[in-house]
Amino acid sequence: MKRPLTVGIIGCGYWGPLLVRNFKSLPDCQLKAVCDLNVERLKHVRALYPDVEGMTQTQQLLNATNIDAVVIATPVKHHYSLAKAALLAGKHAFIEKPMASSSAECEELIEIANRKGLILMLDHTFLYSSPVQKIAQIVQAGDLGEIRYINCRRLNLGLFQKDINVAWDLAPHDISIILHILDEFPTTVNCQGNAHITPGVEDVTNMSLSFSRKRFATIQSSWLEPRKIREMTIVGTRRMIVYDDLRTREKIRIYDARVERPPHYDTFAEFQYSYHYGDSYIPYLHQEEPLKLACQHFADCIRTNSQPLTDGRKGLEMVRILEAASASLKKNGAPVTLSESNGTAPLVTPVKQPEELSQVEAFAG
Ligand SMILES: NC(=O)c1ccc[n+]([C@@H]2O[C@H](COP(=O)([O-])OP(=O)(O)OC[C@H]3O[C@@H](n4cnc5c(N)ncnc54)[C@H](O)[C@@H]3O)[C@@H](O)[C@H]2O)c1
Repeated sequence: MKRPLTVGIIGCGYWGPLLVRNFKSLPDCQLKAVCDLNVERLKHVRALYPDVEGMTQTQQLLNATNIDAVVIATPVKHHYSLAKAALLAGKHAFIEKPMASSSAECEELIEIANRKGLILMLDHTFLYSSPVQKIAQIVQAGDLGEIRYINCRRLNLGLFQKDINVAWDLAPHDISIILHILDEFPTTVNCQGNAHITPGVEDVTNMSLSFSRKRFATIQSSWLEPRKIREMTIVGTRRMIVYDDLRTREKIRIYDARVERPPHYDTFAEFQYSYHYGDSYIPYLHQEEPLKLACQHFADCIRTNSQPLTDGRKGLEMVRILEAASASLKKNGAPVTLSESNGTAPLVTPVKQPEELSQVEAFAG
């Protein structure tokens, strides 16, 4: 494709205008139209970009023959229907996280995109950020040794969502980073939480993902915290990383710290843990807006007909984990196993607790 890629964006609430700014800034893209049911939001975007057409009817945007690709930045409950309509209309689709409300919906979107030869990409923004790319590089080079666990905290006051709980809203960022770093799908998910403000919508959750070789990751998500916190600790057998995304500089610090047991001792008096406190250092990070890189990657994948780093499969994996977390929440944090998807196996299976067999069987049925 020699001409610029033409793009339409649906949803101009909080996140949509950031996508508008970024697609506007790409030299090989032309933002043709924005769409929102809310006229005030459209006015806001059009005041900033008067050359972009504004629409309140999604069908008008989807039917536009001069649009190659559609970006969906609406609440999650609309992702599936809008993405499906866009793909069926022959448009490439860029969907905000999480991909859809269920794994069945994700599978259908993947199938349509494959059948029609269209690019389907998820905005798992953090995978396009320098700190996460640097962490993945360090882990892949083996500098941390074997990863023991990852601990994530993503906390703040608000913004309360109505259609999804805090795990579906905030944890996708952590899940995408964890899966990228470990390059593995978890075996089980546990999630506990409470709905304090909106009945039925958990505003605080603690999720934990278990991986092979006894590794695990914990993810704390909250809309009820007085301070904004975006922290991740990755503990390896040789070194550890603390990633604080709120720092403007020095987001990553690598600690040359570890604890070891002596390999052999004869008496208790000889036994001593060996604590290693080495240097800590801060790697250089190239500063670039991750969302801009994600938008550029989408355009590049369309141009070269290549698979995005965050393709439909990655979106499906994320939704499977979120579904398992919701199933676990309903069971007060009981573990839920995740089988590797083969397209036919049940995606979420609760682990049987001996004392609750009948409940589990009812759930599985
Ligand atoms: N990648 C990230 O870091 C990131 C950050 C924030 C939000 N998000 C995602 O972006 C999406 C939007 O979140 P938000 O915070 O901007 O929500 P929002 O509620 O602020 O905005 C959504 C907008 O979509 C419009 N809308 C709803 N249904 C529509 C429809 N059928 N057609 C056209 N417009 C419609 C609403 O009027 C509203 O203006 C969500 O999926 C969210 O998870 C991603």
